[in-house]
Amino acid sequence: MTKKQKFYLTTPLYYVNDVPHIGHAYTTIAADVLARFKRMSGFDVYFLTGTDEHGQKIADAAKEHNYSPQEYVNMVVERFKDAWLTLGISYNDFIRTTEERHVKVVQNIFQKLLDQGDVYPGEYEGWYCTPCETFWTEFQVSETGNTCPDCKRPVHKLKEKTFYFKLSKYQDKLLKHIESHPEFVLPASRRNEVLSFIKQGLKDLSVTRTTFKWGVPVPGQEGHVVYVWFDALINYISAPGFTSNEKKFAGLWPADVHLMGKEIVRFHAVIWPIMLMALGLPLPKTVFGHGWWTVEGEKMSKSKGNVVDPIALSKEYGVDPVRYFLLREVPFGVDGDFSKKSFINRYNSDLANDIGNLLNRTLTMVEKYFGGVIPEAGENTFDEASEELVNLANETPGIVASQMDKLAFSDALSAVWELINKANKYIELEAPWKLSKEGKTDNLKSVIFNLCDVLRTVAILVTPFIPTTTSRMWEQLGLTDPIEKPGIKIAGTKVAKADPLFPRLEKK
Ligand code: MSP
Repeated sequence: MTKKQKFYLTTPLYYVNDVPHIGHAYTTIAADVLARFKRMSGFDVYFLTGTDEHGQKIADAAKEHNYSPQEYVNMVVERFKDAWLTLGISYNDFIRTTEERHVKVVQNIFQKLLDQGDVYPGEYEGWYCTPCETFWTEFQVSETGNTCPDCKRPVHKLKEKTFYFKLSKYQDKLLKHIESHPEFVLPASRRNEVLSFIKQGLKDLSVTRTTFKWGVPVPGQEGHVVYVWFDALINYISAPGFTSNEKKFAGLWPADVHLMGKEIVRFHAVIWPIMLMALGLPLPKTVFGHGWWTVEGEKMSKSKGNVVDPIALSKEYGVDPVRYFLLREVPFGVDGDFSKKSFINRYNSDLANDIGNLLNRTLTMVEKYFGGVIPEAGENTFDEASEELVNLANETPGIVASQMDKLAFSDALSAVWELINKANKYIELEAPWKLSKEGKTDNLKSVIFNLCDVLRTVAILVTPFIPTTTSRMWEQLGLTDPIEKPGIKIAGTKVAKADPLFPRLEKK
């Protein structure tokens, strides 16, 4: 048997100063959908997520709640794990930056870069934004009037002994890499931003702190802890076994895709690849920065009290509608707006009406005309409408696969919905109730068979997105084989019609 091809994908490591919200869920659900799709396509998938647990921001949050940082992160990490369990996230590994398997690797890497001269001692004076854990130059801060150019909160001046990482040394090499690998930073808008940022000139990066203690201690340098971003980025190689399990690591690295929100693309497309270059490691294939969600037109924030809790939403409407909405509503890569109204509209039109009704109507007819057993197609009954439907059903998996390869989740779903809509129209065109009345049994058999077979294809294609729903569809169609098994025959199975997949919601 030939070895399966690997596919390694990651989410960012989320800060544990707060509980997960819909923004965190978005990246994680997208990664999960991709992971499930790749597994179904025969890949050996390694899907990594986890938590970023060091840094001043976390230490401050712990203090505010009267816990030690370690106690605090131990508590909050459970909220993330629970959320991912509820949302059906099929990660293969969950890494916490406070774990020994990670800390050791960070320390080894720091020492190696120090030994080879890519990290060197110096002094730092500059402006620091604690919420973003980011340094800004005098110029950047002066442009915004002493506030963080990203989050607009006040920055404060820091002067400390530090170690620098030689970003500048690798600037040209990185530029060449990005220019010759158009798929390295996606979408193209993010790539252009990164290119112009690098072209402005890279300054060496301060990678240790002495003003607080909650971080990875720098080996042999009393009082220094590793800068939280330098620490956290290393997770992408510490988890798959860099320096601890070389065999595993060789089978997994480089990552196929790092997924994240657009605000942290710069860390992943500038600092991270340079760290890898300094270590002599290959670069990830793609860094993808998706858009941001606003809520009812406003930026989501605790102070505004408009933070959407994905778990509460799932409890109210079901997990699959949340997964579906987030990936269907806006193309992956551009910003989107969440509102109850658009959520409910999409639920009712796409889920309750289109897919839910197609299954319901079809199974009702299987029961009514064929005693609940899916018929074989009748002989010599092929007409134009059937041909069109069957052709589309045959083409759709290829379209979905090519959209998924581009991470165009919403286009992949649109393609499936085109098939669903065509099947709903097919029912109107063929009018099975008339065929039954007129005694055209062969035609009736074909129409019902075609509809059931389209439903089978639809179930397979939407499985990565709405896995709970598709196992219910599968059961109702009377199928028992694993969904990914090729060539499943549908004729002859006894259907088991049950409650509607998505009961209609009243508009609120
Ligand atoms: N800890 C860093 C990442 C380190 S990766 C080595 C971090 N953490 S975070 O908790 O702030 O999570 C940021 C990620 O959450 C974003 O990149 C994005 O994936 C997601 N989102 C947070 N808010 C979001 C929206 N409003 N909309 C969409 N996604 C956003 O940054």
